Amino acid sequence: MHGDDIFGNLRDTLTVPCRLVENSHLRRWGYCMCGIVGYVGKQEACPFLLSGLRRLEYRGYDSAGIATLTGSSGFQLHRAVGRIDNLAERIDQTPMQGSTGIGHTRWATHGAATEENAHPHMGGHEIVAVVHNGVIENYQVLKEMLQEKGYVFQSATDTEVVAHLIAENLKTLMNAPVATGGRSSGGADSRFAIFVEAVRASLPSLRGTYGLVVMFRDRPDLLIAARCGSPLVLGVGRGEQFIASDTSPLVGHTDRIIYLADHQIAVVTKDSIQVVHRDQGRVRPEVRVLESTDQEVGCNGFPHYMLKEIYEQPTSLRNAMRGRLDRENATAKFGGLNLTPAQLRGVNRLILTACGTSWHSALVGEYLIEEFARLPVEVEYASELRYRNPPVDHDTLIFGITQSGETADTLAALREMKRKGHHTLAICNVIGSSIAQEADGGIYLHAGPEIGVASTKAFTSQLCVLSMLGLYFGRLRHLSFEAGQRIIDQLEALPDVVEQALECSSRVREVADKYKDATNFLYLGRHYNFPTALEGALKLKEISYIHAEGYPAAEMKHGPIALVDEHTPSVFLLPRSHVYDKVMSNLQEVKARGGPVIAIVDQMDRKLESLVDDIIEVPYVEDFLQPVVASIPLQLLAYHIAIARGCDVDKPRNLAKSVTVE
Ligand code: AGP
Repeated sequence: MHGDDIFGNLRDTLTVPCRLVENSHLRRWGYCMCGIVGYVGKQEACPFLLSGLRRLEYRGYDSAGIATLTGSSGFQLHRAVGRIDNLAERIDQTPMQGSTGIGHTRWATHGAATEENAHPHMGGHEIVAVVHNGVIENYQVLKEMLQEKGYVFQSATDTEVVAHLIAENLKTLMNAPVATGGRSSGGADSRFAIFVEAVRASLPSLRGTYGLVVMFRDRPDLLIAARCGSPLVLGVGRGEQFIASDTSPLVGHTDRIIYLADHQIAVVTKDSIQVVHRDQGRVRPEVRVLESTDQEVGCNGFPHYMLKEIYEQPTSLRNAMRGRLDRENATAKFGGLNLTPAQLRGVNRLILTACGTSWHSALVGEYLIEEFARLPVEVEYASELRYRNPPVDHDTLIFGITQSGETADTLAALREMKRKGHHTLAICNVIGSSIAQEADGGIYLHAGPEIGVASTKAFTSQLCVLSMLGLYFGRLRHLSFEAGQRIIDQLEALPDVVEQALECSSRVREVADKYKDATNFLYLGRHYNFPTALEGALKLKEISYIHAEGYPAAEMKHGPIALVDEHTPSVFLLPRSHVYDKVMSNLQEVKARGGPVIAIVDQMDRKLESLVDDIIEVPYVEDFLQPVVASIPLQLLAYHIAIARGCDVDKPRNLAKSVTVE
């Protein structure tokens, strides 16, 4: 089934196979960007936990930890600051036993990235171990209350509060005159009732968001997971069960998965998974099929995910277009907009809202939708739109553009627009993500999992979808049949063109070696390639830590030209278009001031060769597709410079893949 057909309606589609998805029934605005794993079964827990954390490392990577449990010796705990490799080293030195365990990779919110603040956290006198993804907003009040009861805190985290709170509730239940029975465990197995109740009773006190996995020293055969706002997925095995923040750790271990919904608690043993609602008793979980391969979540022979994803672009573009080009009517078709053509014809304005790279694709979208459809488009940073409260006419359609579907600002902006009664649509990669679920409809990118923190293939797929959207709106309005056909021809040829563009890699590498020590870069382009310049600069700064600015080339003379000197390379986007001569003039202005110039061109030109310092050639395409093709050398340039500088391209410092905090 095509993803479009289920947009915004995932919960009703019982038989839909799920690719790598982060299902979410998120109702709040944010949770922290950590990764969680859990295992209970017949094998040693540590190998799964460690490999799962490696797959989740893109969610956060400033510290990590694992706790395992055996019946005889209680908890074993290892935590380490930095990458999973540091944790793995500790485990190599002192191996961990136990067939039950939990693990966590952290992106710090409360408390610095130290070993003490790394999860898992212990509660009581090491009777409970907890991993947590989310933010407990009232942790300070709870902490003071627990400190008054004598609990001593080892960390500055909000999570340790949860661990002690559960321990406190367990102690109270144990000391109660009549042990709590099956009723208060919401119908879960009565052997575990007191433990389930200790967790369940703690949850209403927590304000904020959480995905929790809890382990009890005295119940080594049990894990309890609870969710409110932070995704958790259960992997159903035979004689073993798995828990994770998203499906990537489960691939290769099981293909049956259960998404936990908000306010649900999972009681997990090696032979069973029971799900109860926090207040409403037993729930019959829906088991879905996970259709993902190790190839999709692995590096597949490439040294980095980013490079693999750059090279996947011919395929991801084909997937973005599959079944969506309608040659007969010279238009595009989308199954998930959930609006009739008449309703879409009545739209008088679009707002495209997004963050980061997705915001750059929105800018390209603005240019091409306005050109193809003569429909006014506004592009808004989601973080601004959510608080700006602009006047928006009733016939305005809102699109949120997002790779992850979890970006807190984009989600909040869409919610605000939806609250005001606007139809909200998403252009999104991750099926079943929070934004995909909450939007009234949308278009999936079908780019496959993007693991490298720097977005590459999702960006070009967004551009491709926006081109098709421009075509669609254009054909609803004034775009002729012939013009529509020409756009389709160009789109169909695009994957092969991108394949050819990738051949520039060795040339880009030479250029990267030459300029790798620069401390400032300028990226300049006009018209469709102004957003391309912004995106090129973002790619470079996020993975190589070199300061870079993207600008419309003509704006240079209004200030930034002061930055030009012999140490500041300017990357000029110079494919043939109606602004070619204009950009050439801007290029001359930079050259006249002694700035080195790298030109991205689609034809070799003698005059140009003598003028600029370095040339990278890509194939010719019509102007509306130039951002896709010109992005290839820009992605490769950022990649090769970052590698030459010894940077970790897949996990750049301070960043995380899904920005789920405000
Ligand atoms: C892209 O390279 C960045 N890591 C970042 O700007 C990203 O595009 C932004 O956080 C938006 O993410 P989204 O597309 O998942 O919403």
